[in-house]
Amino acid sequence: MIGTLLKEVRQYKVPALLTPLWTTLEVIMWILIPYVTASLIDDGVMAGNLSNVYKYGSWMAVLALLSTVFGVLAGWFAAWSSSGLAANLRSAMYRSIQRYSFSDIDKYSTAGLVTRMTTDVASIQNAFQMLLRTSFRAPLNMVSALAMCFLIHRRLSIVFLVAMLILSVFLALLISRAARLFKEILLKVDALNGVVQENVSAIRVVKAYVREDHEISKFDKAVLNLFTLNVRVETLMALNRPVMNLIVNGCIIALSWFGARFIVDGSLTTGELTSLFSYVMTVLSSLMMLSMVFVQLTQSFASGSRIAEVIEEVPDMEEPADPVLEVPSGSIDFDSVYFSYGKGGDYALEGIDLHILPGETIGIIGGTGSGKSTLGALVSRLYDVSEGTVRVGGINVRNFSLKTLRSSVAVVLQKNTLFSGTVFENLRWGRPDATDEECIEACKAACADEFVSAMSEGYNTRIEQGGTNVSGGQRQRLCIARALLKRPKVLILDDSTSAVDTATDAKIRETFSQRIPGVTKLIISQRVLSISSADRIAVMEDGRVIGFDTHENLLKDNSVYREIYEMQMSGGEGDFDEKK
Ligand SMILES: Nc1ncnc2c1ncn2[C@@H]1O[C@H](COP(=O)(O)OP(=O)(O)OP(=O)(O)O)[C@@H](O)[C@H]1O
Ligand SMILES: [Mg+2]
Repeated sequence: MIGTLLKEVRQYKVPALLTPLWTTLEVIMWILIPYVTASLIDDGVMAGNLSNVYKYGSWMAVLALLSTVFGVLAGWFAAWSSSGLAANLRSAMYRSIQRYSFSDIDKYSTAGLVTRMTTDVASIQNAFQMLLRTSFRAPLNMVSALAMCFLIHRRLSIVFLVAMLILSVFLALLISRAARLFKEILLKVDALNGVVQENVSAIRVVKAYVREDHEISKFDKAVLNLFTLNVRVETLMALNRPVMNLIVNGCIIALSWFGARFIVDGSLTTGELTSLFSYVMTVLSSLMMLSMVFVQLTQSFASGSRIAEVIEEVPDMEEPADPVLEVPSGSIDFDSVYFSYGKGGDYALEGIDLHILPGETIGIIGGTGSGKSTLGALVSRLYDVSEGTVRVGGINVRNFSLKTLRSSVAVVLQKNTLFSGTVFENLRWGRPDATDEECIEACKAACADEFVSAMSEGYNTRIEQGGTNVSGGQRQRLCIARALLKRPKVLILDDSTSAVDTATDAKIRETFSQRIPGVTKLIISQRVLSISSADRIAVMEDGRVIGFDTHENLLKDNSVYREIYEMQMSGGEGDFDEKK
Protein backbone atom coordinates (compact mmCIF):
# COMPACT_ATOMS: atom_id res chain seq x y z
CA MET A 1 0.00 0.00 0.00
CA ILE A 2 2.73 2.47 0.98
CA GLY A 3 4.46 1.74 -2.33
CA THR A 4 1.32 2.41 -4.34
CA LEU A 5 0.80 5.74 -2.59
CA LEU A 6 4.43 6.86 -2.76
CA LYS A 7 4.55 6.08 -6.47
CA GLU A 8 2.07 8.89 -7.00
CA VAL A 9 4.48 11.50 -5.59
CA ARG A 10 6.11 11.27 -9.04
CA GLN A 11 6.92 14.74 -10.42
CA TYR A 12 6.82 16.19 -6.88
CA LYS A 13 9.73 14.06 -5.70
CA VAL A 14 12.19 16.97 -5.73
CA PRO A 15 10.16 19.35 -3.54
CA ALA A 16 9.26 16.41 -1.30
CA LEU A 17 12.92 15.54 -0.80
CA LEU A 18 13.96 19.19 -0.38
CA THR A 19 11.44 19.77 2.42
CA PRO A 20 13.45 17.81 5.05
CA LEU A 21 16.58 19.66 3.91
CA TRP A 22 14.99 23.08 4.47
CA THR A 23 13.58 21.81 7.74
CA THR A 24 16.99 20.66 8.91
CA LEU A 25 18.51 24.04 8.10
CA GLU A 26 15.61 25.77 9.82
CA VAL A 27 16.14 23.71 12.96
CA ILE A 28 19.90 24.26 13.03
CA MET A 29 19.45 28.03 12.84
CA TRP A 30 16.75 27.94 15.47
CA ILE A 31 18.70 25.79 17.87
CA LEU A 32 21.75 28.04 17.71
CA ILE A 33 19.80 31.13 18.80
CA PRO A 34 19.60 30.36 22.57
CA TYR A 35 23.28 29.41 22.46
CA VAL A 36 24.15 32.85 21.08
CA THR A 37 21.76 34.39 23.62
CA ALA A 38 23.87 32.84 26.38
CA SER A 39 27.00 34.56 25.02
CA LEU A 40 25.07 37.81 24.58
CA ILE A 41 24.08 37.79 28.25
CA ASP A 42 27.37 36.55 29.66
CA ASP A 43 29.92 38.37 27.47
CA GLY A 44 27.77 41.35 26.59
CA VAL A 45 25.17 42.32 29.16
CA MET A 46 26.81 40.90 32.30
CA ALA A 47 30.28 42.01 31.25
CA GLY A 48 28.97 45.45 30.27
CA ASN A 49 30.59 45.08 26.85
CA LEU A 50 28.41 46.93 24.34
CA SER A 51 30.33 45.85 21.23
CA ASN A 52 29.73 42.20 22.20
CA VAL A 53 26.03 42.99 22.64
CA TYR A 54 25.95 44.34 19.07
CA LYS A 55 27.96 41.44 17.71
CA TYR A 56 25.87 38.67 19.28
CA GLY A 57 22.70 40.66 18.74
CA SER A 58 23.30 40.82 14.98
CA TRP A 59 24.23 37.15 14.96
CA MET A 60 20.89 36.39 16.55
CA ALA A 61 19.04 38.54 14.03
CA VAL A 62 20.73 36.77 11.12
CA LEU A 63 20.02 33.35 12.57
CA ALA A 64 16.38 34.23 13.20
CA LEU A 65 16.01 35.58 9.68
CA LEU A 66 17.60 32.51 8.11
CA SER A 67 15.52 30.20 10.22
CA THR A 68 12.36 32.00 9.10
CA VAL A 69 13.38 31.85 5.44
CA PHE A 70 14.14 28.13 5.63
CA GLY A 71 10.90 27.58 7.56
CA VAL A 72 8.88 29.31 4.86
CA LEU A 73 10.67 27.31 2.16
CA ALA A 74 9.98 24.06 4.01
CA GLY A 75 6.31 24.96 4.44
CA TRP A 76 5.99 25.94 0.82
CA PHE A 77 7.69 22.82 -0.55
CA ALA A 78 5.70 20.56 1.78
CA ALA A 79 2.41 22.12 0.69
CA TRP A 80 3.44 21.92 -2.94
CA SER A 81 4.37 18.26 -2.88
CA SER A 82 1.47 17.12 -0.71
CA SER A 83 -1.07 18.93 -2.90
CA GLY A 84 0.65 17.35 -5.88
CA LEU A 85 0.38 13.94 -4.28
CA ALA A 86 -3.33 14.50 -3.65
CA ALA A 87 -3.89 15.53 -7.27
CA ASN A 88 -1.98 12.50 -8.56
CA LEU A 89 -3.84 10.15 -6.23
CA ARG A 90 -7.18 11.50 -7.38
CA SER A 91 -6.37 11.13 -11.04
CA ALA A 92 -4.87 7.66 -10.49
CA MET A 93 -8.09 6.62 -8.76
CA TYR A 94 -10.21 8.21 -11.45
CA ARG A 95 -8.29 6.46 -14.21
CA SER A 96 -8.54 3.19 -12.34
CA ILE A 97 -12.30 3.59 -11.87
CA GLN A 98 -12.77 4.23 -15.60
CA ARG A 99 -11.38 0.76 -16.23
CA TYR A 100 -13.78 -0.88 -13.79
CA SER A 101 -16.35 -3.31 -15.02
CA PHE A 102 -19.93 -3.16 -13.79
CA SER A 103 -19.21 -5.82 -11.21
CA ASP A 104 -16.25 -3.85 -9.81
CA ILE A 105 -18.50 -0.83 -9.37
CA ASP A 106 -21.13 -3.03 -7.68
CA LYS A 107 -18.38 -4.03 -5.23
CA TYR A 108 -17.39 -0.52 -4.09
CA SER A 109 -20.69 1.37 -4.48
CA THR A 110 -20.72 4.84 -5.98
CA ALA A 111 -20.94 6.62 -2.61
CA GLY A 112 -17.96 4.64 -1.32
CA LEU A 113 -15.85 5.65 -4.29
CA VAL A 114 -16.73 9.33 -3.85
CA THR A 115 -15.73 9.26 -0.17
CA ARG A 116 -12.45 7.64 -1.05
CA MET A 117 -11.68 10.26 -3.67
CA THR A 118 -12.48 13.17 -1.37
CA THR A 119 -12.21 12.60 2.40
CA ASP A 120 -9.60 9.87 2.27
CA VAL A 121 -7.36 11.73 -0.15
CA ALA A 122 -7.56 14.88 2.00
CA SER A 123 -6.48 12.86 5.01
CA ILE A 124 -3.48 11.44 3.14
CA GLN A 125 -2.56 14.92 1.92
CA ASN A 126 -2.44 16.18 5.52
CA ALA A 127 -0.52 13.18 6.72
CA PHE A 128 2.05 13.52 3.96
CA GLN A 129 2.59 17.18 4.65
CA MET A 130 3.02 16.43 8.32
CA LEU A 131 5.34 13.55 7.55
CA LEU A 132 7.56 15.81 5.47
CA ARG A 133 7.73 18.64 7.97
CA THR A 134 6.96 17.71 11.52
CA SER A 135 8.25 14.18 11.53
CA PHE A 136 11.67 15.55 10.61
CA ARG A 137 11.47 18.73 12.54
CA ALA A 138 10.31 17.36 15.87
CA PRO A 139 12.96 14.66 16.46
CA LEU A 140 15.64 16.89 14.99
CA ASN A 141 14.64 19.73 17.29
CA MET A 142 14.50 17.43 20.25
CA VAL A 143 17.81 15.71 19.69
CA SER A 144 19.74 18.87 18.88
CA ALA A 145 18.24 20.80 21.79
CA LEU A 146 19.14 17.94 24.11
CA ALA A 147 22.65 17.85 22.69
CA MET A 148 23.00 21.57 23.33
CA CYS A 149 21.85 21.08 26.91
CA PHE A 150 24.42 18.39 27.51
CA LEU A 151 27.01 20.64 25.97
CA ILE A 152 26.09 23.45 28.34
CA HIS A 153 25.73 21.47 31.53
CA ARG A 154 25.69 17.71 31.79
CA ARG A 155 24.27 17.27 35.27
CA LEU A 156 21.53 19.82 34.87
CA SER A 157 20.37 18.03 31.74
CA ILE A 158 19.09 15.18 33.88
CA VAL A 159 16.15 17.45 34.64
CA PHE A 160 15.27 17.27 30.94
CA LEU A 161 15.44 13.53 30.84
CA VAL A 162 13.13 13.18 33.83
CA ALA A 163 10.66 15.64 32.32
CA MET A 164 10.74 13.82 29.00
CA LEU A 165 10.05 10.53 30.71
CA ILE A 166 7.00 11.91 32.54
CA LEU A 167 5.64 13.54 29.40
CA SER A 168 6.20 10.40 27.31
CA VAL A 169 4.23 8.25 29.72
CA PHE A 170 1.40 10.78 29.75
CA LEU A 171 1.36 11.06 25.95
CA ALA A 172 1.44 7.30 25.47
CA LEU A 173 -1.62 6.92 27.69
CA LEU A 174 -3.39 9.77 25.94
CA ILE A 175 -2.67 8.51 22.45
CA SER A 176 -3.71 4.95 23.06
CA ARG A 177 -7.10 6.23 24.21
CA ALA A 178 -7.40 8.89 21.52
CA ALA A 179 -6.40 6.54 18.70
CA ARG A 180 -9.30 4.27 19.54
CA LEU A 181 -11.70 7.21 19.54
CA PHE A 182 -10.31 8.53 16.26
CA LYS A 183 -10.92 5.21 14.61
CA GLU A 184 -14.52 5.25 15.81
CA ILE A 185 -14.92 8.79 14.52
CA LEU A 186 -13.77 7.75 11.05
CA LEU A 187 -16.41 5.04 10.95
CA LYS A 188 -19.05 7.54 12.01
CA VAL A 189 -17.90 9.99 9.33
CA ASP A 190 -18.29 7.21 6.79
CA ALA A 191 -21.80 6.55 8.02
CA LEU A 192 -22.59 10.26 7.86
CA ASN A 193 -21.28 10.49 4.30
CA GLY A 194 -23.41 7.52 3.42
CA VAL A 195 -26.54 9.21 4.74
CA VAL A 196 -25.74 12.47 2.96
CA GLN A 197 -24.95 10.88 -0.37
CA GLU A 198 -27.95 8.62 -0.38
CA ASN A 199 -30.24 11.42 0.59
CA VAL A 200 -28.93 14.09 -1.71
CA SER A 201 -28.79 11.87 -4.76
CA ALA A 202 -32.35 10.74 -4.08
CA ILE A 203 -33.68 14.07 -2.84
CA ARG A 204 -36.56 14.01 -5.34
CA VAL A 205 -37.78 10.69 -4.02
CA VAL A 206 -37.45 11.91 -0.46
CA LYS A 207 -39.63 14.89 -1.29
CA ALA A 208 -42.12 12.87 -3.28
CA TYR A 209 -42.66 10.60 -0.30
CA VAL A 210 -42.65 13.51 2.16
CA ARG A 211 -39.89 11.78 4.07
CA GLU A 212 -37.97 14.96 4.88
CA ASP A 213 -38.65 14.75 8.62
CA HIS A 214 -37.64 11.14 8.73
CA GLU A 215 -34.45 11.86 6.80
CA ILE A 216 -33.65 14.84 9.01
CA SER A 217 -33.99 12.80 12.16
CA LYS A 218 -31.84 10.06 10.63
CA PHE A 219 -29.22 12.66 9.80
CA ASP A 220 -29.47 14.31 13.22
CA LYS A 221 -28.76 10.97 14.82
CA ALA A 222 -25.64 10.51 12.72
CA VAL A 223 -24.52 14.07 13.50
CA LEU A 224 -25.17 13.60 17.22
CA ASN A 225 -23.14 10.40 17.28
CA LEU A 226 -20.25 12.19 15.70
CA PHE A 227 -20.64 15.16 18.05
CA THR A 228 -20.50 12.97 21.18
CA LEU A 229 -17.37 11.24 19.97
CA ASN A 230 -15.72 14.50 18.95
CA VAL A 231 -16.41 16.00 22.36
CA ARG A 232 -14.90 12.95 24.04
CA VAL A 233 -11.76 13.04 21.99
CA GLU A 234 -11.39 16.81 22.27
CA THR A 235 -11.81 16.63 26.05
CA LEU A 236 -9.01 14.17 26.11
CA MET A 237 -6.81 16.24 23.85
CA ALA A 238 -7.56 19.38 25.87
CA LEU A 239 -5.54 17.81 28.70
CA ASN A 240 -2.50 18.17 26.50
CA ARG A 241 -1.76 21.84 26.97
CA PRO A 242 -2.21 22.14 30.77
CA VAL A 243 -0.19 19.01 31.43
CA MET A 244 2.51 20.25 29.14
CA ASN A 245 2.52 23.64 30.90
CA LEU A 246 2.70 21.92 34.24
CA ILE A 247 5.71 19.93 33.21
CA VAL A 248 7.45 22.91 31.58
CA ASN A 249 6.91 25.03 34.67
CA GLY A 250 8.08 22.19 36.88
CA CYS A 251 11.22 22.03 34.77
CA ILE A 252 11.81 25.76 35.06
CA ILE A 253 11.51 25.58 38.82
CA ALA A 254 13.84 22.59 38.97
CA LEU A 255 16.28 24.31 36.62
CA SER A 256 16.25 27.50 38.71
CA TRP A 257 16.63 25.54 41.92
CA PHE A 258 19.59 23.46 40.79
CA GLY A 259 20.86 26.09 38.38
CA ALA A 260 21.23 28.66 41.14
CA ARG A 261 23.53 26.31 43.02
CA PHE A 262 25.63 25.60 39.95
CA ILE A 263 25.91 29.34 39.29
CA VAL A 264 27.06 29.87 42.83
CA ASP A 265 29.72 27.17 42.57
CA GLY A 266 30.75 28.66 39.24
CA SER A 267 30.04 25.73 36.87
CA LEU A 268 27.17 27.57 35.13
CA THR A 269 26.67 31.13 33.94
CA THR A 270 23.46 33.14 34.05
CA GLY A 271 23.37 33.29 30.27
CA GLU A 272 23.63 29.53 30.01
CA LEU A 273 20.73 29.08 32.42
CA THR A 274 18.58 31.40 30.30
CA SER A 275 19.31 29.36 27.20
CA LEU A 276 18.44 26.15 29.05
CA PHE A 277 15.02 27.67 29.77
CA SER A 278 14.32 28.02 26.08
CA TYR A 279 15.68 24.57 25.27
CA VAL A 280 13.29 23.00 27.73
CA MET A 281 10.36 24.42 25.76
CA THR A 282 11.82 23.17 22.50
CA VAL A 283 12.44 19.64 23.78
CA LEU A 284 9.04 19.15 25.35
CA SER A 285 6.99 20.74 22.59
CA SER A 286 8.86 18.65 20.01
CA LEU A 287 7.96 15.55 21.95
CA MET A 288 4.36 16.59 21.88
CA MET A 289 4.43 17.34 18.17
CA LEU A 290 5.94 13.96 17.52
CA SER A 291 3.08 12.30 19.35
CA MET A 292 0.60 14.23 17.21
CA VAL A 293 2.36 13.05 14.06
CA PHE A 294 1.96 9.56 15.34
CA VAL A 295 -1.77 10.04 15.89
CA GLN A 296 -2.24 11.58 12.45
CA LEU A 297 -0.30 8.82 10.74
CA THR A 298 -2.26 6.04 12.42
CA GLN A 299 -5.45 7.84 11.46
CA SER A 300 -4.49 8.18 7.83
CA PHE A 301 -3.39 4.59 7.58
CA ALA A 302 -6.99 3.49 7.11
CA SER A 303 -7.49 6.13 4.41
CA GLY A 304 -4.30 5.05 2.69
CA SER A 305 -5.36 1.46 2.41
CA ARG A 306 -8.79 2.49 1.12
CA ILE A 307 -7.14 4.56 -1.62
CA ALA A 308 -4.59 1.91 -2.53
CA GLU A 309 -7.40 -0.63 -2.83
CA VAL A 310 -9.10 1.46 -5.52
CA ILE A 311 -5.88 2.05 -7.46
CA GLU A 312 -4.66 -1.54 -7.22
CA GLU A 313 -7.99 -3.13 -8.11
CA VAL A 314 -7.52 -5.43 -11.07
CA PRO A 315 -10.63 -5.02 -13.22
CA ASP A 316 -12.20 -8.44 -13.44
CA MET A 317 -12.76 -7.96 -17.14
CA GLU A 318 -9.60 -8.22 -19.18
CA GLU A 319 -9.11 -7.26 -22.80
CA PRO A 320 -8.12 -10.31 -24.85
CA ALA A 321 -4.45 -10.51 -25.84
CA ASP A 322 -5.23 -10.67 -29.55
CA PRO A 323 -8.58 -8.93 -29.92
CA VAL A 324 -10.94 -9.21 -32.88
CA LEU A 325 -11.51 -5.67 -34.18
CA GLU A 326 -14.58 -6.16 -36.34
CA VAL A 327 -17.99 -7.53 -35.47
CA PRO A 328 -18.90 -9.53 -38.60
CA SER A 329 -22.67 -9.55 -38.21
CA GLY A 330 -25.52 -8.91 -35.83
CA SER A 331 -26.31 -12.51 -34.96
CA ILE A 332 -26.47 -13.31 -31.25
CA ASP A 333 -26.04 -16.76 -29.70
CA PHE A 334 -26.39 -17.80 -26.09
CA ASP A 335 -24.98 -21.32 -25.60
CA SER A 336 -26.03 -22.83 -22.24
CA VAL A 337 -25.35 -19.60 -20.40
CA TYR A 338 -25.42 -19.42 -16.62
CA PHE A 339 -24.80 -16.18 -14.78
CA SER A 340 -24.72 -15.04 -11.18
CA TYR A 341 -23.90 -11.55 -9.86
CA GLY A 342 -22.02 -12.66 -6.78
CA LYS A 343 -19.35 -15.32 -6.79
CA GLY A 344 -21.19 -18.61 -6.27
CA GLY A 345 -24.47 -16.82 -5.55
CA ASP A 346 -27.89 -17.72 -6.92
CA TYR A 347 -28.08 -17.75 -10.67
CA ALA A 348 -29.77 -14.71 -12.19
CA LEU A 349 -29.75 -16.59 -15.50
CA GLU A 350 -29.88 -20.35 -15.92
CA GLY A 351 -29.38 -22.55 -18.95
CA ILE A 352 -30.05 -19.91 -21.58
CA ASP A 353 -29.95 -21.16 -25.18
CA LEU A 354 -31.00 -18.53 -27.68
CA HIS A 355 -30.02 -18.13 -31.31
CA ILE A 356 -30.88 -14.83 -32.95
CA LEU A 357 -30.34 -14.06 -36.65
CA PRO A 358 -28.87 -10.80 -37.96
CA GLY A 359 -31.56 -8.17 -38.51
CA GLU A 360 -34.19 -9.95 -36.44
CA THR A 361 -36.33 -7.98 -34.01
CA ILE A 362 -36.61 -9.89 -30.77
CA GLY A 363 -38.93 -9.05 -27.93
CA ILE A 364 -38.02 -10.07 -24.40
CA ILE A 365 -40.78 -10.08 -21.84
CA GLY A 366 -41.11 -11.35 -18.29
CA GLY A 367 -41.93 -10.32 -14.76
CA THR A 368 -39.75 -7.97 -12.79
CA GLY A 369 -36.55 -9.64 -11.63
CA SER A 370 -36.87 -12.40 -14.22
CA GLY A 371 -33.44 -11.59 -15.69
CA LYS A 372 -34.28 -9.55 -18.79
CA SER A 373 -31.80 -6.73 -18.13
CA THR A 374 -29.16 -9.25 -17.16
CA LEU A 375 -29.63 -11.05 -20.47
CA GLY A 376 -29.17 -7.78 -22.37
CA ALA A 377 -26.09 -6.82 -20.33
CA LEU A 378 -24.29 -10.01 -21.28
CA VAL A 379 -24.48 -9.26 -25.02
CA SER A 380 -22.31 -6.15 -24.77
CA ARG A 381 -20.23 -7.86 -22.08
CA LEU A 382 -21.12 -5.46 -19.28
CA TYR A 383 -20.75 -8.60 -17.17
CA ASP A 384 -18.95 -11.85 -17.97
CA VAL A 385 -20.94 -15.08 -18.01
CA SER A 386 -20.35 -17.59 -15.22
CA GLU A 387 -20.70 -20.58 -17.55
CA GLY A 388 -21.37 -21.08 -21.25
CA THR A 389 -20.67 -18.59 -24.03
CA VAL A 390 -22.28 -15.55 -25.60
CA ARG A 391 -21.42 -14.97 -29.24
CA VAL A 392 -22.05 -11.94 -31.42
CA GLY A 393 -21.58 -12.44 -35.17
CA GLY A 394 -20.53 -15.99 -34.31
CA ILE A 395 -17.53 -14.89 -32.23
CA ASN A 396 -17.26 -15.22 -28.46
CA VAL A 397 -17.75 -11.73 -26.96
CA ARG A 398 -14.62 -12.28 -24.85
CA ASN A 399 -12.52 -12.27 -28.04
CA PHE A 400 -13.49 -8.75 -29.15
CA SER A 401 -11.78 -5.65 -27.89
CA LEU A 402 -14.33 -4.01 -25.59
CA LYS A 403 -14.34 -0.90 -27.75
CA THR A 404 -15.20 -2.85 -30.89
CA LEU A 405 -17.91 -4.83 -29.18
CA ARG A 406 -19.53 -1.89 -27.46
CA SER A 407 -19.56 0.30 -30.52
CA SER A 408 -21.30 -2.44 -32.48
CA VAL A 409 -23.69 -3.41 -29.71
CA ALA A 410 -25.53 -0.31 -28.53
CA VAL A 411 -27.41 -0.66 -25.27
CA VAL A 412 -29.95 1.78 -23.96
CA LEU A 413 -29.82 0.85 -20.29
CA GLN A 414 -32.88 0.68 -18.12
CA LYS A 415 -31.46 3.30 -15.80
CA ASN A 416 -30.03 5.55 -18.44
CA THR A 417 -28.76 9.01 -17.92
CA LEU A 418 -27.78 12.14 -19.79
CA PHE A 419 -24.86 14.35 -18.90
CA SER A 420 -24.60 18.08 -18.43
CA GLY A 421 -24.05 19.69 -21.81
CA THR A 422 -26.11 20.57 -24.87
CA VAL A 423 -28.40 18.13 -26.65
CA PHE A 424 -25.84 17.91 -29.46
CA GLU A 425 -23.03 17.12 -27.02
CA ASN A 426 -25.10 14.41 -25.41
CA LEU A 427 -25.97 12.85 -28.73
CA ARG A 428 -22.33 12.83 -29.80
CA TRP A 429 -21.51 10.47 -26.96
CA GLY A 430 -22.79 7.97 -29.51
CA ARG A 431 -20.32 9.10 -32.16
CA PRO A 432 -18.05 12.11 -31.57
CA ASP A 433 -17.73 13.01 -35.28
CA ALA A 434 -21.44 12.86 -36.11
CA THR A 435 -22.61 15.84 -38.16
CA ASP A 436 -25.55 18.00 -37.08
CA GLU A 437 -27.66 16.40 -39.81
CA GLU A 438 -26.85 12.91 -38.56
CA CYS A 439 -27.80 13.90 -35.02
CA ILE A 440 -31.10 15.31 -36.20
CA GLU A 441 -31.70 12.21 -38.33
CA ALA A 442 -31.16 9.97 -35.27
CA CYS A 443 -33.53 12.09 -33.23
CA LYS A 444 -36.17 11.77 -35.94
CA ALA A 445 -35.82 7.98 -35.82
CA ALA A 446 -36.21 8.05 -32.04
CA CYS A 447 -39.19 10.46 -32.24
CA ALA A 448 -37.16 13.05 -30.33
CA ASP A 449 -36.81 15.66 -33.05
CA GLU A 450 -40.20 17.18 -32.44
CA PHE A 451 -39.72 18.08 -28.78
CA VAL A 452 -36.04 19.02 -29.16
CA SER A 453 -36.94 21.51 -31.92
CA ALA A 454 -39.59 22.96 -29.65
CA MET A 455 -37.08 23.63 -26.85
CA SER A 456 -35.89 27.21 -26.40
CA GLU A 457 -32.54 26.75 -28.10
CA GLY A 458 -33.32 23.59 -30.03
CA TYR A 459 -30.38 21.24 -30.28
CA ASN A 460 -28.19 23.70 -28.39
CA THR A 461 -30.37 23.65 -25.29
CA ARG A 462 -28.42 22.71 -22.21
CA ILE A 463 -29.28 19.46 -20.46
CA GLU A 464 -28.71 19.61 -16.72
CA GLN A 465 -26.65 17.00 -14.91
CA GLY A 466 -28.50 13.69 -14.96
CA GLY A 467 -30.99 15.07 -17.49
CA THR A 468 -33.26 16.57 -14.85
CA ASN A 469 -34.69 19.27 -17.13
CA VAL A 470 -36.27 16.87 -19.61
CA SER A 471 -39.14 14.50 -18.89
CA GLY A 472 -38.62 10.78 -18.36
CA GLY A 473 -39.99 9.93 -21.79
CA GLN A 474 -37.95 12.66 -23.47
CA ARG A 475 -34.82 11.42 -21.77
CA GLN A 476 -35.49 7.89 -22.98
CA ARG A 477 -35.91 9.08 -26.56
CA LEU A 478 -32.67 11.09 -26.44
CA CYS A 479 -30.89 8.01 -25.09
CA ILE A 480 -32.26 5.96 -27.98
CA ALA A 481 -31.10 8.60 -30.48
CA ARG A 482 -27.67 8.59 -28.87
CA ALA A 483 -27.47 4.81 -29.27
CA LEU A 484 -28.63 5.00 -32.90
CA LEU A 485 -25.80 7.39 -33.74
CA LYS A 486 -23.35 4.58 -33.06
CA ARG A 487 -24.71 2.87 -36.20
CA PRO A 488 -24.68 -0.39 -34.28
CA LYS A 489 -25.16 -3.91 -35.61
CA VAL A 490 -27.13 -4.83 -32.51
CA LEU A 491 -29.42 -2.47 -30.63
CA ILE A 492 -30.68 -3.39 -27.18
CA LEU A 493 -33.47 -1.33 -25.70
CA ASP A 494 -33.93 -2.19 -22.05
CA ASP A 495 -37.37 -0.93 -21.07
CA SER A 496 -36.38 2.16 -23.02
CA THR A 497 -39.84 3.26 -23.95
CA SER A 498 -41.52 2.57 -20.63
CA ALA A 499 -42.11 6.29 -20.07
CA VAL A 500 -43.19 6.96 -23.64
CA ASP A 501 -46.88 6.84 -24.56
CA THR A 502 -47.93 3.80 -26.58
CA ALA A 503 -48.57 5.73 -29.78
CA THR A 504 -45.05 7.19 -29.84
CA ASP A 505 -43.67 3.83 -28.77
CA ALA A 506 -45.31 2.22 -31.82
CA LYS A 507 -44.04 5.02 -34.03
CA ILE A 508 -40.47 4.52 -32.84
CA ARG A 509 -40.65 0.81 -33.65
CA GLU A 510 -42.10 1.57 -37.06
CA THR A 511 -39.30 4.01 -37.95
CA PHE A 512 -36.81 1.42 -36.74
CA SER A 513 -38.07 -1.17 -39.20
CA GLN A 514 -37.88 1.39 -42.01
CA ARG A 515 -34.60 3.12 -41.19
CA ILE A 516 -32.46 0.43 -39.64
CA PRO A 517 -33.84 -2.80 -41.03
CA GLY A 518 -30.51 -4.66 -40.92
CA VAL A 519 -29.86 -4.00 -37.25
CA THR A 520 -30.63 -6.82 -34.81
CA LYS A 521 -32.97 -5.39 -32.19
CA LEU A 522 -33.57 -6.74 -28.72
CA ILE A 523 -36.53 -4.99 -27.20
CA ILE A 524 -36.93 -5.64 -23.52
CA SER A 525 -40.26 -4.62 -22.11
CA GLN A 526 -42.96 -5.36 -19.61
CA ARG A 527 -45.58 -4.31 -22.17
CA VAL A 528 -46.91 -6.94 -24.59
CA LEU A 529 -47.83 -4.18 -27.02
CA SER A 530 -44.22 -3.05 -27.30
CA ILE A 531 -43.00 -6.45 -28.40
CA SER A 532 -45.94 -8.26 -29.98
CA SER A 533 -44.92 -7.18 -33.49
CA ALA A 534 -41.38 -8.53 -33.03
CA ASP A 535 -40.21 -11.41 -35.24
CA ARG A 536 -39.85 -13.63 -32.21
CA ILE A 537 -40.40 -13.18 -28.51
CA ALA A 538 -38.50 -14.69 -25.57
CA VAL A 539 -40.60 -15.16 -22.45
CA MET A 540 -38.56 -15.13 -19.26
CA GLU A 541 -39.35 -16.42 -15.81
CA ASP A 542 -36.96 -16.79 -12.86
CA GLY A 543 -33.82 -16.50 -14.97
CA ARG A 544 -34.96 -18.99 -17.59
CA VAL A 545 -36.34 -18.63 -21.10
CA ILE A 546 -39.61 -20.52 -21.02
CA GLY A 547 -40.74 -19.74 -24.54
CA PHE A 548 -39.17 -18.38 -27.73
CA ASP A 549 -41.47 -18.03 -30.69
CA THR A 550 -43.72 -15.65 -32.59
CA HIS A 551 -46.52 -13.77 -30.89
CA GLU A 552 -49.19 -15.99 -32.47
CA ASN A 553 -47.49 -19.26 -31.55
CA LEU A 554 -46.78 -18.12 -28.00
CA LEU A 555 -50.41 -17.14 -27.55
CA LYS A 556 -51.32 -20.68 -28.55
CA ASP A 557 -48.64 -22.64 -26.68
CA ASN A 558 -47.32 -20.56 -23.80
CA SER A 559 -49.62 -20.18 -20.84
CA VAL A 560 -47.51 -17.53 -19.10
CA TYR A 561 -47.42 -15.35 -22.22
CA ARG A 562 -51.14 -15.80 -22.79
CA GLU A 563 -51.82 -14.76 -19.21
CA ILE A 564 -49.72 -11.59 -19.45
CA TYR A 565 -51.35 -10.78 -22.77
CA GLU A 566 -54.89 -11.25 -21.58
CA MET A 567 -54.28 -9.34 -18.40
CA GLN A 568 -52.81 -6.35 -20.23
CA MET A 569 -55.38 -6.38 -23.01
CA SER A 570 -58.20 -6.30 -20.53
CA GLY A 571 -56.58 -3.19 -19.09
CA GLY A 572 -55.61 -4.98 -15.89
CA GLU A 573 -51.99 -3.98 -15.82
CA GLY A 574 -49.91 -1.31 -17.37
CA ASP A 575 -51.53 -0.29 -20.61
CA PHE A 576 -54.71 1.61 -20.98
CA ASP A 577 -55.02 2.71 -24.56
CA GLU A 578 -54.95 0.01 -27.11
CA LYS A 579 -54.21 1.87 -30.25
CA LYS A 580 -51.17 0.51 -31.95
N1 LIG B 1 -26.05 -5.40 -9.90
C1 LIG B 1 -26.67 -6.46 -9.35
N2 LIG B 1 -26.10 -7.10 -8.30
C2 LIG B 1 -26.68 -8.18 -7.74
N3 LIG B 1 -27.85 -8.70 -8.16
C3 LIG B 1 -28.48 -8.12 -9.18
C4 LIG B 1 -27.92 -6.96 -9.83
N4 LIG B 1 -28.76 -6.59 -10.82
C5 LIG B 1 -29.79 -7.47 -10.79
N5 LIG B 1 -29.64 -8.39 -9.81
C6 LIG B 1 -30.54 -9.52 -9.52
O1 LIG B 1 -30.66 -10.34 -10.67
C7 LIG B 1 -31.97 -10.76 -10.92
C8 LIG B 1 -32.41 -10.36 -12.33
O2 LIG B 1 -32.42 -8.96 -12.43
P1 LIG B 1 -32.72 -8.17 -13.77
O3 LIG B 1 -32.36 -6.77 -13.54
O4 LIG B 1 -32.09 -8.89 -14.90
O5 LIG B 1 -34.31 -8.31 -13.86
P2 LIG B 1 -35.30 -7.69 -14.94
O6 LIG B 1 -36.01 -8.82 -15.57
O7 LIG B 1 -34.59 -6.75 -15.82
O8 LIG B 1 -36.32 -6.90 -14.01
P3 LIG B 1 -37.10 -5.52 -14.32
O9 LIG B 1 -38.22 -5.83 -15.23
O10 LIG B 1 -37.59 -5.10 -12.99
O11 LIG B 1 -36.12 -4.59 -14.91
C9 LIG B 1 -32.82 -10.12 -9.82
O12 LIG B 1 -33.09 -11.13 -8.86
C10 LIG B 1 -31.95 -9.04 -9.24
O13 LIG B 1 -32.18 -8.94 -7.85
MG1 LIG C 1 -34.55 -4.76 -16.01
